[in-house]
Amino acid sequence: MVEVTLVEVGPRDGLQNEPTPIPSLAKIALVDALAEAGLTRIEAGAFVNPQWVPQMADGEQVFTDIKRRPGVRYAALVPNARGAERALAVKADELAVFAAATDAFSQKNTNCTVAESLARFEPVIAQAKAAGVPVRGYISCVIACPYSGAVDPAQVTRIAEDLRALGCYEISLGDTTGVGTPRQVDQLVNAVSARLPVDKLAVHMHDTYGQALTNIYVALQQGVRVVDSAVAGLGGCPYAPGAAGNVATEDVIYLLNGLGLEHGVDLDKVAAAGRAICQQLGRPSTSKVAQALAARHSSTKNDS
Ligand code: HMG
Ligand code: MG
Repeated sequence: MVEVTLVEVGPRDGLQNEPTPIPSLAKIALVDALAEAGLTRIEAGAFVNPQWVPQMADGEQVFTDIKRRPGVRYAALVPNARGAERALAVKADELAVFAAATDAFSQKNTNCTVAESLARFEPVIAQAKAAGVPVRGYISCVIACPYSGAVDPAQVTRIAEDLRALGCYEISLGDTTGVGTPRQVDQLVNAVSARLPVDKLAVHMHDTYGQALTNIYVALQQGVRVVDSAVAGLGGCPYAPGAAGNVATEDVIYLLNGLGLEHGVDLDKVAAAGRAICQQLGRPSTSKVAQALAARHSSTKNDS
């Protein structure tokens, strides 16, 4: 039986770019609903500089008030030692640090070069280790950078090796702008997995050009077994203008079901969580699967 782990990033990557403040209670309800749906890894918030990303300023509240479900890891995105202190103080089960593949994106997103960002992770990882908390490492812009263009897979591979050497147990490869195509993803995963075990890799696809699911399929064929997604296809990075949301969790589940791959998540419950947050945001889900389920639901209601 082949198992795939979904890493739900909706409450963080999905919401961080929302311009209107979302009440903490709605964020907490979202995290709880996702856990109830069977997701075992949920990125519940970010402990970044609130002046840079105001929407994530209530991380403490969210982590304090969620209902901790046994078997679920609630992760926090952190950029530096200050973020790690804040996240560990409210008992995040996992930290996620984030580097970029290019200096240009790194500067826009974290006000430092890639090398400087890696140096900032050392105290983060030391704090996490002392607390017995695992650390995941993201690499953004693995296919292309909105500021400096095409990215060489060899560059991504070097940063992935650096993150592993620092102590990250898993590296998530982020197509932040969602421009990647299957051939590029194939080449990228090939390059990185030639240097790191494929079971240490995850893929994080945005769907700007509608290629996210196909790209995930390619990564699965290469042996990747951890996939990031966001309920209702929420998301976008404040420093990647024009990038669409993350691939929708509902759509990835439907793909995995079709491939006969185990994931342990209840599609209907995720779709319900997606409907609730979309209602809060006042706009429809971008998930095709959520749309199809809603249409089927309303036509059966009309029939009866
Ligand atoms: P900076 O302004 O250069 O930081 O920001 P600083 O070290 O100079 O500190 C300035 C002030 O901020 C100080 O306060 C610090 O204490 C405070 P003051 O002394 O002036 O009163 N500060 C903090 N406060 C709370 N929490 C913190 C923190 N850090 C500093 N953690 C920094 C540098 C990295 C902090 C900033 O650039 C930042 O927060 N960036 C985060 C941007 C972000 O969240 N981007 C989105 C997430 S990444 C993403 O979406 C991509 C990903 O999803 C993958 C993909 O999609 O492909 C991961
Ligand atoms: Mg992202």
